[in-house]
Amino acid sequence: MRKLILLLGGLTLFTACKTNAPEPTGLVTKNAMVVAAREEAAEIGVEIMKKGGNAFDAMVATELSLSVAFPFAGNLGGGGFMVYRKNNGDVGSIDYREKAPLTAHKDMYLDSLGNVIPNMSTVGATAVGVPGTIAGVFEVHEKFGSLSMEEILKPVIALAKRGVIVTEKQAKRLEFLRERVIEVSGDSTKFAQVFVKGDTIKYPKLAWTLEQIMEKGRDGFYKGEVAEMLAGFIQEKGGFITVEDLAKYEAKWRQPVIFKYKDLEIISMSPPSSGGVTINQIFKMMEPYDVAEYGHNSAKTIQLFTEAARRAYADRNFFLGDPDFVDIPLDVLLSQNYLDERMSTFSFEKATPSDSVSHGAVEILESAETTHYSIVDSEGNAVSATTTLNGAYGSKLFHPELGFFLNNEMDDFSSKPGVPNMFGLIGAEANNIQPEKRMLSSMTPTIVEKDGVLYMVVGTPGGSTIINFVAQTILNVYEFDLSMQNAVNAPRFHHQWLPDMILFEEEGFSEELKTELKDKGYNLFEGPARIGGKVDAIRVLPNGNLEGGADKRGDDKAVGY
Ligand code: DON
Repeated sequence: MRKLILLLGGLTLFTACKTNAPEPTGLVTKNAMVVAAREEAAEIGVEIMKKGGNAFDAMVATELSLSVAFPFAGNLGGGGFMVYRKNNGDVGSIDYREKAPLTAHKDMYLDSLGNVIPNMSTVGATAVGVPGTIAGVFEVHEKFGSLSMEEILKPVIALAKRGVIVTEKQAKRLEFLRERVIEVSGDSTKFAQVFVKGDTIKYPKLAWTLEQIMEKGRDGFYKGEVAEMLAGFIQEKGGFITVEDLAKYEAKWRQPVIFKYKDLEIISMSPPSSGGVTINQIFKMMEPYDVAEYGHNSAKTIQLFTEAARRAYADRNFFLGDPDFVDIPLDVLLSQNYLDERMSTFSFEKATPSDSVSHGAVEILESAETTHYSIVDSEGNAVSATTTLNGAYGSKLFHPELGFFLNNEMDDFSSKPGVPNMFGLIGAEANNIQPEKRMLSSMTPTIVEKDGVLYMVVGTPGGSTIINFVAQTILNVYEFDLSMQNAVNAPRFHHQWLPDMILFEEEGFSEELKTELKDKGYNLFEGPARIGGKVDAIRVLPNGNLEGGADKRGDDKAVGY
C-alpha cells in the first residue's frame, strides 16, 4: 500500500512540474531591484548598488534607511533575520534577533499568583529585548560588503537630516497610536506632535546616533556613550537591559532551512524563527495534492492549506524555540513519513477541529510591527530580510536623545505556557524565558530557486500570519500563474491552529465560498479581521529581468534599474 502511495506521489510530482511564467504586471527592471516598505529606503538601497555596491551593501543601506523612513518597524532598537543566495548558488542566513537580558527569568512577567501581568511584556521598558540590528548589519558587511561603511551610511544620515515626508497611511497610523506613545514616552516625546500628510519629519537625533556608529563601528552602538545612554534610559524607565547585555550581544550565522517543493528549492529562516520549519511542513503536507487544479482561493485550496497550517502551527507552538537552548527534533518534524501521518486525518469532506490536533507525537531523545525587504543586485546575488520592533513602534518607548523606538520583542516569548501572546500564539516550554535566550519568531525571509536558478525573493510582516502569507505568495506565482505583483496583491487568508478559525481579508472571498466552508465545519472569524501583511517580493523572469511585487496595502515600493 505504502509503495502504491509513493508511486502515485511520484507521478503527481512528475506531472506537476510547472513551466509557465505569468506575464509581469509589477515594475520590471533589467539589472537590480529593492522592494521595501518606503520608496525612500528602496531608493537608497538602489543608489548603493548603482555606486558599485552589491546586494549585501544594499541590505545594510536599506535596513538602516528603514529606521529613518519607516520608524513604525524599521529600527536600530529591534532585530531581524536575513536569508541570502549568492549568484554562485551559495546560501546562508544571519540571525540578528533580540535576546533576553541577563537578569531575565521564566516567570518575570507573572504576578505572585502566577498570572501574566497585563502589558508588562508588551508596553514600555520592561518589554524590551537586547537589540540586534546593528550587530547584524556589521556582520553582513564584514563578511560580504564591498563598499565602505561610510559610503553606505552617508546617504542614510543625509535622509535622517533632510527628513521624510509623511504619507496618508503613515499619518493615520501616527494618529491612531499617538496616545499610546504619549502614555509610555511622555507628552514631550517626538511623536506626541501631530503630523499630517505632507509634513516632513526630520530625525537629527537619529542622525547623530548613526554618525556615532559610522565613526566607531558596531562599538559605537554596543559600547561607550550610546550604550550607556541606552541602558541608563531603559533602566530609569523600569526595564532590565544593562551595558553588559549590550556589550555581549552577537548576531549569529545560521544554516537556513532548505527543502524541495515539486521543482522548487525553498530556502528560509531556521530557528529561532519558526518561519522556515513551519513553511517547510506546510508545503510538504500540501505537495501530494494537485492544488493548481483546485484553483486559486477555491474552497478546496483553502481547506488543504488550512489543514496543513493547523497541523504545522500546532507543532510550531510546542516544539520550537531558540536552538541554542532547546533541542528541536527537526529531522522528525521535517520527515515526509511524519508529515504524511499528520495529514492522514485530513479529508475534503469535513474540517479537522483544532482540539483534536495537538503537536505530533515525537519522541524527543533529549531533552506588531515588522517590515520586509527584498533585494537582487546586477550580479544575481539575492537578499531577503525581515526586521522588526514587534508591535507598531515596538514598546512605544522612544529614546529622546538617540532618536529611535525600542522593541517589545519579549512578548514573543511564552510568558506562561498555554497563555496566548499578542498574536494569539500559545507557546510552550521550548519558548520559555531564559537569560540570553532568543524569543521564537514567525519571520520568514525566503528565497526560492527553480531548476537551480534564482526564482523569487519574498517575505512579509504580520506576526503569526507571516508564514502563511509567504507560502500563499509563492503558491500564487508557482501554482496559480499570477505575476509577482498580482500574487502580492491577491486576497489572503490565515489559520494558526488556535484559535480554531479562518481569518479572511475583507475583500476577495465570496459569501458562497464562506458558506461552503462553514457547511464543512470550518469556523470563520466574523468581523474585520486583523489581517494584511505587506509582502515585498522580487521574481526573476525567464529572460533574467526582475519583476517587483510591492504590497498595495502599504506605501511599499519597488525601485530598480
Ligand atoms: O518575530 C515575530 O514573529 C514578530 N515579532 C513579528 C511581528 C510582526 O510581524 C508585526 N507586524 N505586523
